[in-house]
Amino acid sequence: MKKPTVLELRRSKGARLAMLTAYDYPTAKLVAEAGVDLILVGDSLGMVVLGYDSTVPVTMDDMVHHTKAARRGAPEAFLVADLPFLSYGTAEQALAAAARLMKEAGADSVKLEGGTEVVPVVEALVRAGVPVMGHVGLTPQTASALGGYKLQGKDEDTARRVLEGAAALERAGCWGVVLELVPAPLARLVTERLAIPTIGIGAGPDCDGQVLVFHDVVGLFSGFTPTFVKRYTEAGAAIKTAIARYASDVRSGAFPAEGQSFRMKEDVLRRIYGG
Ligand code: KIV
Repeated sequence: MKKPTVLELRRSKGARLAMLTAYDYPTAKLVAEAGVDLILVGDSLGMVVLGYDSTVPVTMDDMVHHTKAARRGAPEAFLVADLPFLSYGTAEQALAAAARLMKEAGADSVKLEGGTEVVPVVEALVRAGVPVMGHVGLTPQTASALGGYKLQGKDEDTARRVLEGAAALERAGCWGVVLELVPAPLARLVTERLAIPTIGIGAGPDCDGQVLVFHDVVGLFSGFTPTFVKRYTEAGAAIKTAIARYASDVRSGAFPAEGQSFRMKEDVLRRIYGG
């Protein structure tokens, strides 16, 4: 699949973009080969790969390390990388963090969380030429302040905050916005009001695209699975069965068999035994 330009993405209203996370070489390769439109190296890697209970501990070095690996697996893909928690408190910090993700790790765009409060940072990044994706609704880096991993925008105040946040991100220059865990009618309204694409996760069917976490989609994460996730396979269970068969074969002597072993010349062997 040809890599889209940021301008093409910005104009892809109604395109039903399929975005999926990937955090390393093999998953990025699989995801790209399966033909998704966009890959997100999300800071969700903190939970599904590094075993933390939130995205808060994820560092800049973690993001650079995983973005580099994902880029090696998907050299042609449009790769968005998350700015981790507290890496974009000021415009200077955000520029330094974006420089690492784009110049060192090979990301095509960064993503950051927040609405009107992050507008000055988004403006500084965009002014410097950094493609920025926004993220409103449930913002996992500050989930605690929002009362946990809960649906956002149920009442008038919080719904307005989501709507105004998304509109402010568009005005600040974002090429697209993730809407996470908001009621479907609110996501529809935001999608209608914005000229840039909305990418939903737990935000109903009317966004311009959808994003999910790789490990949730393929059944590799045994922790909490949100209700909005659709599991397309149970790779975790398949892997466990395969590993149990391997261990059993090793114990029974069935592995390695003739086909997985190497021969050597008889006379060499005889000389070694003899001498
Ligand atoms: O980190 C992540 O994977 C994300 C998606 C859930 C949108 O931000």
